[in-house]
Amino acid sequence: MQYYDIKKLYLKETNEVNFKNITVAGSGVLGSQIAFQTAFHGYNVSVYDINDKAIAKAKERLADLKGVYAGFFKDPKKAEETLARFTFSSSLEEAVKDADLIIEAVPELVDIKINFYKELAKVAPEKTIFASNSSTMVPSQFAEYTGRPEKFLALHFANLVWQNNTAEVMGHTGTDEDVIQQVIEFCQINRYDSAIHKKGTARLYSKLAFSSAVIFRPVALGKRYCRS
Ligand SMILES: NC(=O)c1ccc[n+]([C@@H]2O[C@H](COP(=O)([O-])OP(=O)(O)OC[C@H]3O[C@@H](n4cnc5c(N)ncnc54)[C@H](O)[C@@H]3O)[C@@H](O)[C@H]2O)c1
Repeated sequence: MQYYDIKKLYLKETNEVNFKNITVAGSGVLGSQIAFQTAFHGYNVSVYDINDKAIAKAKERLADLKGVYAGFFKDPKKAEETLARFTFSSSLEEAVKDADLIIEAVPELVDIKINFYKELAKVAPEKTIFASNSSTMVPSQFAEYTGRPEKFLALHFANLVWQNNTAEVMGHTGTDEDVIQQVIEFCQINRYDSAIHKKGTARLYSKLAFSSAVIFRPVALGKRYCRS
């Protein structure tokens, strides 16, 4: 296991947007939350799911989230404006055609994820970074299927992302350092880990309590992440 000092990565105070177009693949419980949180912070979000029925369900979930965000942030106007930033598609090629970053939130089944990455590898633009939101699997399980292991990592969000605003970043041994850096910046702009950003205190959580693949660890003054 390889550890890095997160302070070296935790960079500058930034509001500079390094990505513009985000695709969220799988618009279920977590995918819809990730999509809304991301669009709420100003990104164009392309929502991909397997068929028209799933897309219709995604629209319902996002409409519900509009109400949640309007209440939680006491900003109904911003929540309403967020809806204009979504596009929807059940064609993977169409959904990822402009993506700077794709966040995968498809079901937690190895075969589904492997098939998904194989298909994604065929159609995604060269620039696109792939991130998996898996709760129990690690990026080294899928890297070989992505066709771009250097641009692949885990980016794991907590349920009820608007209030539990943590995002955990984990590369595998072949992930480019620069890619990790770019994804951490994306998280900052989305106000994840804002306690660290603003106060410099540890508020990062172990990702997989039941595996050795822990990314951020809330160790006093020793904020680290690892690769697996
Ligand atoms: N639910 C949670 O609390 C939670 C928290 C953190 C991370 N996660 C992770 O997020 C991922 C998704 O979990 P979820 O709870 O949102 O699942 P979910 O079942 O609610 O949603 C999965 C979505 O993926 C779609 N889908 C199915 N097959 C697909 C395919 N081949 N390609 C694209 N989309 C497909 C489904 O139509 C559905 O919209 C998992 O990896 C899970 O570990 C879940």
